[in-house]
Amino acid sequence: MRVGVLTGGGDCPGLNAAIRAVVRKSTVSYGDEILGFRNGWNGVVEDDTIPLDVARCRGILPRGGTILGTSRINPYKVEDGVARSVATLERHGVDALVAIGGEGTLSVARQLAEEGVPVVGIPKTIDNDVNATDSTIGFNTAVQVAVEAIDRLHTTAESHDRVMVCEVMGRHVGWIALYSGVAAGAAVIIVPEEPFDLSLVAEHIRHRHEKGRFASIVVAAEGAKPRPGTLELPPPEIDQFDHERLGGIGSVIARELEALTSLECRYISFGHVLRGGTPSAFDRVLATRFGIAAVEAAHDGAFGQMVALHGPSIERVTLTEATKTLKHLDESLVEGIGRLFLE
Ligand code: F6P
Repeated sequence: MRVGVLTGGGDCPGLNAAIRAVVRKSTVSYGDEILGFRNGWNGVVEDDTIPLDVARCRGILPRGGTILGTSRINPYKVEDGVARSVATLERHGVDALVAIGGEGTLSVARQLAEEGVPVVGIPKTIDNDVNATDSTIGFNTAVQVAVEAIDRLHTTAESHDRVMVCEVMGRHVGWIALYSGVAAGAAVIIVPEEPFDLSLVAEHIRHRHEKGRFASIVVAAEGAKPRPGTLELPPPEIDQFDHERLGGIGSVIARELEALTSLECRYISFGHVLRGGTPSAFDRVLATRFGIAAVEAAHDGAFGQMVALHGPSIERVTLTEATKTLKHLDESLVEGIGRLFLE
């Protein structure tokens, strides 16, 4: 079999571990040939490839980023993009294509699968918002990095009795904010799923500080939204892929909180730091299991499917199920742990 592999969308820790697993499983178990497509779907549209083998993948397991490069190019938004993609795959005799990506990349995979392209998906994104899988590659590392950073902020916040507002990634969902906020003992966690009212946040913070010196950590997801009519935000920039360029809500929150509480507030954005660098052990194992399972799915002819983590098992779900909605925080999680320590 000839197996193609690509990584699309924002990078995250663990992509190389997944590529390596795809290459090793294909080569060692099945004697396949592997072709890497560079820079996401762009490599398929433009026929930009690199041959991959076990030797090429040596040493990449702990490395962040992706040796294949990535992009947000969508063949459905490029002139003749789909026809050119199909032609590239035929030209190289690709029997199965493993697409490692988040919601955008996997939606393209689903559409191509509906047109008969033999695609299998692997879910990745630090945001953890791909439906039908307990976790995506990269999420665990991002939380770990955020927690280590917030732990450090605690000591400086305590020394100065300050409020530290930390902004984490999370465009549509608050998985990183909730997990890192709970794990690092944040006083307030602000997530996109629940529009916030800054006057209530300020009241809570003021109350904490009235009890004595009491440093407060506020963790806000970049996609957090104020309750309508409570706070004016500047319109976001739009990038070339029609994506809102997020980042900066934390600075508005810090500025307004300082005005409302008269406490010294500082803002820090973790941004892309959460996406870079070496993956956690959990993500290396998850990526490896996903890579192996994707190759097995390809050999079973299970196209139009994505490998997914369900409890302890790796299972297959349809790409339709995986992309029909984003995986938001559920209310029970927010109620259960999110509010527990907010006193
Ligand atoms: O990969 C998803 C994500 O991390 C979002 O949380 C964030 O908004 C976006 O990527 C930013 O991507 P970039 O700045 O690389 O376009």
